[in-house]
Amino acid sequence: MNHQLEQAKKFISAQLKATPKVGLILGSGLGVLADEIKDAIKIPYEQIPGFLKSTVSGHVGQLVSGKLNGVDVIVMQGRFHFYEGYGLDAITFPIRVMKSIGVEKLIVTNAAGGINKDFNPGDLMLITDHINNTGQNPLIGPNDSRQGVRFPDLTHAYDPQLRNMAKVVANELSIDLKEGVYVWNTGPTYETPAEVKMLQLLGADAVGMSTVPEVIVARHIGLSVLGISCISNMAAGILDEPLSHEDVIKTTESVRLKFISLVKSILTKLS
Ligand code: 6GU
Repeated sequence: MNHQLEQAKKFISAQLKATPKVGLILGSGLGVLADEIKDAIKIPYEQIPGFLKSTVSGHVGQLVSGKLNGVDVIVMQGRFHFYEGYGLDAITFPIRVMKSIGVEKLIVTNAAGGINKDFNPGDLMLITDHINNTGQNPLIGPNDSRQGVRFPDLTHAYDPQLRNMAKVVANELSIDLKEGVYVWNTGPTYETPAEVKMLQLLGADAVGMSTVPEVIVARHIGLSVLGISCISNMAAGILDEPLSHEDVIKTTESVRLKFISLVKSILTKLS
């Protein structure tokens, strides 16, 4: 294990009461789920060796660990984005740290723009697959073969068994869980209507500025992944209205209860 990873692992493990087997990353406006954790241990990112500070409003910037519906979890309340100017190494470092402390399954969430015309703002979308539309990859550089293979397979980037389980849970809760392909663009601009039309032709259902780098690293090191997007708004040109970050946050707030009950019930099924 490299030195920085070892340091972060030691620092965090020393504060944990149990080994979390499930990690969660909470996207824009979805951080409220961390408030549901019982006997929470909170560790601000800036205290952790090797971690960055997160700079976006709507993202708090701390690890929260404890029991969520009886399951030991570790949660990233806020994540790092490529558009903030950070390198992908730093952005995905928390994933490696989670693995080092014992995490086996990763639930990734985000706010995304809807491209699929059957979607509405406020929908939740199970991520079935992704398109990396950036030309960037967090695994570029020398490969550490102790962590994973040089050319990772992404056939089942989003674990089919976990996806099925999420669908069963959504059905039990009468949540209309959409499914689709998530595209990663770097941002920070939203797309033009022409770009959205192109992404539609390429098979995309939703577009956002995160998640894919973390999932790539998670798959490299052997974590199974479940991804959920909150459709916070429709992408440019789908509806005839401009986009704003405030609207994104407002919509994620309105789906809060649905999102929390879905993720909590998924955790119960996992245990
Ligand atoms: Cl429309 N585009 C991107 N790239 N990210 C988003 C979004 C749109 N809506 C929320 N996040």
